[in-house]
Amino acid sequence: MGRFGFLMAAAAMAVSVAACTAQQDGKTVNPQNWPEAKSVGLIDDATEAKIDALMARMSLEEKIGQMIQADIGSITPEDLREYPLGSILAGGSSPPLGHPDRSPAQPWIETSRAFNAVAMEEREGHVRIPLMFGVDAVHGNSNVVGATIFPHNVGLGAMRDPELMRRIGQATAEETAAAGMDWAFGPTLAVPQDERWGRAYEGYSEDPDVVASYAAPMVEGLQGTPDSWGIQGGHVAASVKHFLGDGGTTDGIDQGDTQVDEETLIRVHNAGYPNAINAGTMTVMASFNTWNGVKMHGNRELLTDVLKGRMGFDGFIVGDWNGHGQIPGCINTDCPQTFLAGLDMAMAPDSWKGLYDSTLAAAKDGTIPMERIDDAVRRILRVKFKMGLFDTARPFESRTAVIGSAEHRAIAREAVRKSLVLLKNDGVLPIKASANILVAGEAADDIGRQSGGWTLSWQGDGNTNADFPGATSIYAGIAQAAQAGGGTATLSTDGSFSQKPDVAIVVFGELPYAEMRGDVRTLEFQPGDKQALALLKRLREQGIPTVSVFLSGRPMWVNPEMNASNAFVAAWFPGSEGAGIADLLIGGDHDFSGTLSFSWPKTAGQFVLNQGQDDYDPLFAFGYGLTYAKGGDVPQLSEVSGIDASLANTSLFFTRGRVPEPFTLSLADAVTRSAVDSETAQEGAMRLTWNGAGSVSIDGPELALVRETNADMNIQVTYRLVTPPSGAVEMKLGAASVNIADVLDGSDGWHMLRIPLKCLRDAGADVESVTSPFALSADAPFAMAISDVRLATDPAGTVCPN
Ligand code: BGC
Ligand code: BGC
Repeated sequence: MGRFGFLMAAAAMAVSVAACTAQQDGKTVNPQNWPEAKSVGLIDDATEAKIDALMARMSLEEKIGQMIQADIGSITPEDLREYPLGSILAGGSSPPLGHPDRSPAQPWIETSRAFNAVAMEEREGHVRIPLMFGVDAVHGNSNVVGATIFPHNVGLGAMRDPELMRRIGQATAEETAAAGMDWAFGPTLAVPQDERWGRAYEGYSEDPDVVASYAAPMVEGLQGTPDSWGIQGGHVAASVKHFLGDGGTTDGIDQGDTQVDEETLIRVHNAGYPNAINAGTMTVMASFNTWNGVKMHGNRELLTDVLKGRMGFDGFIVGDWNGHGQIPGCINTDCPQTFLAGLDMAMAPDSWKGLYDSTLAAAKDGTIPMERIDDAVRRILRVKFKMGLFDTARPFESRTAVIGSAEHRAIAREAVRKSLVLLKNDGVLPIKASANILVAGEAADDIGRQSGGWTLSWQGDGNTNADFPGATSIYAGIAQAAQAGGGTATLSTDGSFSQKPDVAIVVFGELPYAEMRGDVRTLEFQPGDKQALALLKRLREQGIPTVSVFLSGRPMWVNPEMNASNAFVAAWFPGSEGAGIADLLIGGDHDFSGTLSFSWPKTAGQFVLNQGQDDYDPLFAFGYGLTYAKGGDVPQLSEVSGIDASLANTSLFFTRGRVPEPFTLSLADAVTRSAVDSETAQEGAMRLTWNGAGSVSIDGPELALVRETNADMNIQVTYRLVTPPSGAVEMKLGAASVNIADVLDGSDGWHMLRIPLKCLRDAGADVESVTSPFALSADAPFAMAISDVRLATDPAGTVCPN
């Protein structure tokens, strides 16, 4: 197959999401094929004796409770009196008790204490067992305001520096322990093979060896080594995830099906686990995905025979967010199958009560044998002992000064420097510190944008610089460097200036995202809306050399942007220490050392592009990265994306005064349209005027919006009311219609209307097949200006009329 053929095949694959069939029927494994490993330090006679004594006093209810974890958004400390659960977590959207999202450490500490106080209180007939409190401390303790935010794993992979990983792990552990938690849901040991996957950035590399080389140092960084384990010393339990095959799903679909043979599952996806187990990882998190159709949460061979048997894992297996409920025959509140398969603790965020009741019943009627329950409880208690949780002293909790400390920020800044990959440089870099620098682009002074998902909020959206005390934006770091070197740095998001600069640094890239919301159907950057490209071209037309700093969770097709840049830096999601970028760009004191841990595509359709493949034909190969010392430029690149535009844009329906491809606008009956200014751009909006009955619709190819609906996305319209409606205004999606007349804001200026897809589905829309993602109709005169219509993730202010 020629390259063209490959691209077409890849493009066709992208649409046939549902049509794939298992290539292998490989659903069974032979444990003898798997590597041997052994949990080091977890089992010793003295501890096992303590567990025996404790278990002898526990009721069946208390044992079942240990096996269930609730989310603090759905349980109160008082609930623990009736339901003696073993663990709580704070999901990405769950704030500390009685406080808003984006809280500093103190409310988190109080939350932890409030729950543990009930678990540890003296009560008649109650065995006191400390809770474990888990959190997604996946790039620093990133739920807590003021924490050091480290680069996401995609950037850390580019460093190839296991020793630095250990220091990052240790700093993360200290900031987690100081905030009252004792368990980090990381590191992710996924080996992402298809960069359309929205969680690709949570993986270190497409290369199993890189992942394997980081597993032990990161686990040891978080947990310490057996002689130093324990919360008292500022260590937390690790949870390597997601076992197994999360990075291998077909078409890069989150929580999808990994269709590989056993040999590939072992060689690629299991690469990091033996090292993590040997390093003593206390927990492993089961994955949402299936392997050749079988849900991992129900896969006894892999969880029990392989992980606990052959690979000698003596800690406990925790489930993922209601992951058990996805096993055929299970629901979130009832699933003995998962415990029978080997799961020890189910993550039952909002379903804990029902799951507790049904699991207790399944224990009583023998559906789950007592030996299995005792094994699960023993493993959980083992970890609690090893973590020192029975010792109620928490010296680290009072050390909140470690959160965002200068020392930790210095580690993060070092990681930023080492993670940047210089893709192109015609000699414009390094910039002299005495230069006059224009700093442009929407992400230039936005710490939320540079931090990505899993930062203060689940998706990483809705953050402002004020939410990051002590952090440094990319612009602020450049300004510091310029000031120190006698130059100037001027921030101008749109790239306008009054005095011509010597050079422009343009910061742009992907918006933050997490989990399924980050899945894309093309690797083209900004399909249908080449806003960053336009900015780069505008600067170059004025004779200003451009340096692009590209923020992304994956390699993307950016050939046009690269052609319009004199230098191009892949910065990933660097986190809170934006000054690490100026360290490399300005002055020349530091050279680049980062090299790609993911192959960079030559076309937007090279979804599955991994070194070692037959036909491997990347733009920049795995391991590529320029340095000042060696130099090297990139010639003019092809601007043919290689992929059908109709695949590209599935979420942007109107922007900057126009309807982007592949969508089209049609007006019917008494509606007219004219161009008007938007808040930010001349003629950036359209005014729609109903002189009588009429309708407007934006139409395109068939879209399946099921996953977007399940992920709580909404249709977001930015509008200004010109003439208030005198009757109903129906917003339509397929057969559904909701009257928005009463929810439109008639006050001056631009407003946002967000209608959840779930609302439209409940009103009758077939979200499996949408050909008009946006339509309005009215019978009576009315006029509104619209500047933007898109599918959005931010849930703030959503309404469901009717
Ligand atoms: C994710 C996990 C995460 C958990 C708790 C799940 O949806 O897949 O990676 O640790 O939620 O937030
Ligand atoms: C939680 C996340 C979780 C996700 C799973 C969110 O509401 O905050 O932690 O991973 O749901 O779908």
